[in-house]
Amino acid sequence: MDVIIQSNAEMAARAAADLVARALADKPDLRLGLATGCTMESVYDQLVRKHQEEGLDFSRCRTFNLDEYVGLAATNPGSYHHFMRERFFNLVNIDPAHTHLPDGMASDLTAESQRYENLIALNGGIDLQLLGIGLNGHVGFNEPLSAFRSRTRMVTLSRMTRSQNAPLFPNPQQVPRRAITMGVETILEARSCVLLATGTDKAEIVARAIEGPMTAMVPATALQLHPACTIVLDEEAAARLRETDHYQRMSPVPNEPAKNSPGILENNENQPRPARPSETHLAGKS
Ligand code: GLP
Repeated sequence: MDVIIQSNAEMAARAAADLVARALADKPDLRLGLATGCTMESVYDQLVRKHQEEGLDFSRCRTFNLDEYVGLAATNPGSYHHFMRERFFNLVNIDPAHTHLPDGMASDLTAESQRYENLIALNGGIDLQLLGIGLNGHVGFNEPLSAFRSRTRMVTLSRMTRSQNAPLFPNPQQVPRRAITMGVETILEARSCVLLATGTDKAEIVARAIEGPMTAMVPATALQLHPACTIVLDEEAAARLRETDHYQRMSPVPNEPAKNSPGILENNENQPRPARPSETHLAGKS
């Protein structure tokens, strides 16, 4: 696991978008796993800017979103279909036929989950999976106690998740109770993962996810098993980490030295380490 700490949320979103852009430059037909949530909005803003100003090309890219609510049509403003169209797909040169989300309106949710798994496999698997993290440590909609071996399936949303996502609906009662999500194991099969978390309210769960013991009670701890996982944080979200100095020394991209880490400069160890072969397609060109 690599941990990149940036000074603020905008810099963190830029760093995450840079990782996507480099992967896309290396592999124009990238199979890109996408996430939703407020944190991701700035990443999509950055990717749209890179498309408009730097010509970042999505024409051969295929996307696979993590999850979708059950019972919301693609046209519903609360749906992730709608979110993705408005925040990203309509603003870049991606072929709509190359964008995929689970269908939360499917009559047979088990069959739909299997179809989605098959679709990912038929496309050769996901090269880079973007992730956010819920306040309870969920990734996608894998709520506490999701098995590390879980696959795409229908899940029941926790009270905390429904209240966290309530601001995106006209009233809290309209937050769906169920969703289809890629499973933890499905996510772990992506060739690389990039998780972005920002803000003080994520600090505690981020520390548990990165430094805590692996447990299905915090599904994001499963990422500790992933051989090519990069966690991008702002200083607020990183505030509860114990090993910040170590992460700064190991960082695959040049970090601003953390305000509370003068030792990094004194030891002249703030140079990025050489990239491991497994991450050259991600961050190794820095
Ligand atoms: C939703 C998504 C998750 C995402 C989470 C974080 O629950 N299903 O994939 O990680 O939101 O949301 P936010 O970025 O708004 O904190």
